[in-house]
Amino acid sequence: EKGGFEHFMLKEIYEQPKAIRDTMSCRIANDGTHVVFDELKWTPEDVKSIDKILITACGTAYHAGLLAKYFIEKIAKIPVEVDIASEYRYRDPLTDHKTLCIVISQSGETIDTLAALKEAKRRGARSLAVTNVLGSSISREADQVVYTWAGPEIAVASTKAYTTQLVALLLLSLYMGQLNGELDAELEGNILSDLMNVPDQCQQIFDHVEDIHAYANQFKEKEDVFFIGRSMDYALAMEGALKLKEISYIHAEAYAGGELKHGTLALIISGVPVIALATQRNVEEKMISNIKEVKARDAFVVGVVQEHDTEVAKCVDAIITIPKTSNFVVPIMTVIPLQLLAYYTAVVRGNDVDKPRNLAKSVTVE
Ligand code: M6R
Repeated sequence: EKGGFEHFMLKEIYEQPKAIRDTMSCRIANDGTHVVFDELKWTPEDVKSIDKILITACGTAYHAGLLAKYFIEKIAKIPVEVDIASEYRYRDPLTDHKTLCIVISQSGETIDTLAALKEAKRRGARSLAVTNVLGSSISREADQVVYTWAGPEIAVASTKAYTTQLVALLLLSLYMGQLNGELDAELEGNILSDLMNVPDQCQQIFDHVEDIHAYANQFKEKEDVFFIGRSMDYALAMEGALKLKEISYIHAEAYAGGELKHGTLALIISGVPVIALATQRNVEEKMISNIKEVKARDAFVVGVVQEHDTEVAKCVDAIITIPKTSNFVVPIMTVIPLQLLAYYTAVVRGNDVDKPRNLAKSVTVE
């Protein structure tokens, strides 16, 4: 049942190229120029009348929501607010009929996400669920559903559900931009052609798995690991830190590069591992100065960059390379080495990778 892999988590990491292909292929027109969402019955007026999008979810799905904010605001130009479901439901939110509430949930059963969806609906919002499970409670409660076609995810640590959520949310942003007239056709064609290359490009990451294994060996005795990034890489840093905590039990923290000076820099001492995500070209120079800040305190810095990025490579101790693509598409691949790093660190520490202590796959009680 594990298909020759030692753990479900590793099997699911390696299933990502197929899961990504399955989630996108049915939603891209045959000529590759635009997105089609047969399951969504939206008119241009429906999308134009959305004033605000509220995204709410838990854990890894929440991190997918943080990235979706960048996708939707940049592509469809609709303001987006992202909230942790357990916070949203109790904060007396300003939600009304001009709000579109998007909930994200792999299982479709997370109690806080379901309750947040009900609360948004009670306040008059329209709703859409991005979920991986047909017929789940959340899919039944939402007005519309976009399925991720990741297949069953067994490991507690979410991997292929997350990458397929990113794909679905990026496609959804393009679709909304198409309908409300905010999206430039050339940009759409470029993003789609980059997206269609992702399943094959993932293989290039898998080809370098031995390097990641080596970092895991190096990190296994560490007490803290820091993840830093800016823009979309900051959202990915949060996901990388969660994955590492969840299965390796090493304390990990994500920081926005610009926030280091406001506190965390005090914790950077000799030998502390810092994973510096620097795939976003528009903030690359700023990331380089953040990397220099932590290097000056003698941190051990692993840079995660797009191929051929020599500027960042010059100032880090080690490098993980992501195949070249556009800013919108790169996050779908950047997370894969972070998943592998968490996986191998958990393995070398002898942990129960698929069933980490104290955690359940689906959180159906508060
Ligand atoms: O099934 P859901 O997507 O609603 O689950 C949400 C979280 O419980 C889940 O993503 C959790 O954070 C994962 N174990 C993280 O790997």
